[in-house]
Amino acid sequence: MKIRTLALAACAAAAMTAIALPAAAQGNGKIKVGLMLPYTGTFAALGTAIENGFRLYIAEQGGKLAGREIEFVKVDDESNPAKATDNVNKLVKRDNVDVLVGTVHSGVAMAMAKVAKDTGTLLIVPNAGADAVTGAMCSPNIFRSSFSNWQPGYAMGEVMAKKGHKTAVTITWKYAAGDESVGGFKDAFQKAGGKVVKELSLPFPNVEFQALLTEIAALKPDAVYTFFAGGGAVKFVKDYAAAGLKKSIPLYGAGFLTDGTLNAQGADADGLLTTLHYGDSLGTPRDNAFRLAYAKAYKLQPDVYAVQGYDAAQMLAAGLGAAKGNVSNKAAFTEGIRKARIDSPRGAFMLSKSHNPVQDIYLRQVGDKENKVIGVASKALADPARGCRM
Ligand code: BEZ
Repeated sequence: MKIRTLALAACAAAAMTAIALPAAAQGNGKIKVGLMLPYTGTFAALGTAIENGFRLYIAEQGGKLAGREIEFVKVDDESNPAKATDNVNKLVKRDNVDVLVGTVHSGVAMAMAKVAKDTGTLLIVPNAGADAVTGAMCSPNIFRSSFSNWQPGYAMGEVMAKKGHKTAVTITWKYAAGDESVGGFKDAFQKAGGKVVKELSLPFPNVEFQALLTEIAALKPDAVYTFFAGGGAVKFVKDYAAAGLKKSIPLYGAGFLTDGTLNAQGADADGLLTTLHYGDSLGTPRDNAFRLAYAKAYKLQPDVYAVQGYDAAQMLAAGLGAAKGNVSNKAAFTEGIRKARIDSPRGAFMLSKSHNPVQDIYLRQVGDKENKVIGVASKALADPARGCRM
């Protein structure tokens, strides 16, 4: 009797394990990808471009990675950190996804990273630059296909100092991405002897810039450094020009200021200098092929967000390939991504020990509705990964 009860209990446990484990974790069936991205709000276009890039790479592999079909469960995170923990828990606990892919907004990404770290769920971040994700919160199961907020900011600090600017005002949204982008800028600009005379900010995603522009005009710095992206970047560039500042105080930024935004910004963006890990005129065979395929698939030109989505899928493929399609083999999956040389349209890159891309940061200038690459601002720049113990 006792033996029969034990046997029944063992059967029940085995059945429950089979139910609880996602199909792909058992080595068969589809891989369930939880896509958590903004599809509404100021970053909506960024979320769509990331998804497009991600899907393009999978389509190029015939719809399968490591022999497994990919199934998507999508959540619109609205770039809202207050809803982020609930949203990511739904994907992990209700939908049982095998891998999380997201997101754009740094505050939302930190909530995703916390849940990923606590539950051991694989996470690939295809945009959000929150320094902590590959810094203090770093973890063997968390990877980034994009950048840290520090990287483009640091590169621009060097560029502006080399141009001879001695004083700068910074202006951004008051949240992790803005603060950390400015932090990177200050690290390099101040090291080179520059002085930041005022740090201006407004809450995310506000776009009432007028009072701050008036303050910039009064402060008369040599130059302005800024982080804005998406719809906010469009409005900022237009307002800066309309206030008459473009002619008198040169505006520089992390490249998100002019990426995916040029059609809406028009001539107000012409001539702007920015730093980023991608540009529109790289002209390499790899990038040309990517741009052609993207334009054919979506009738749109790709931007940095599309590249980051494409590379997130390449990283997933590298992990799955090493784990022979079995996502529950996390050690093999992690090793696969760590050792991979990602053949990105931006130029090939590998991940640092903290799982952030080590990459060239380009200097770009806007002309003919393109972010034209005019040089490399920082070669093979690695994030300092402050606080990462791994
Ligand atoms: C961020 O929140 O990390 C972010 C958002 C848009 C563009 C770049 C970074």
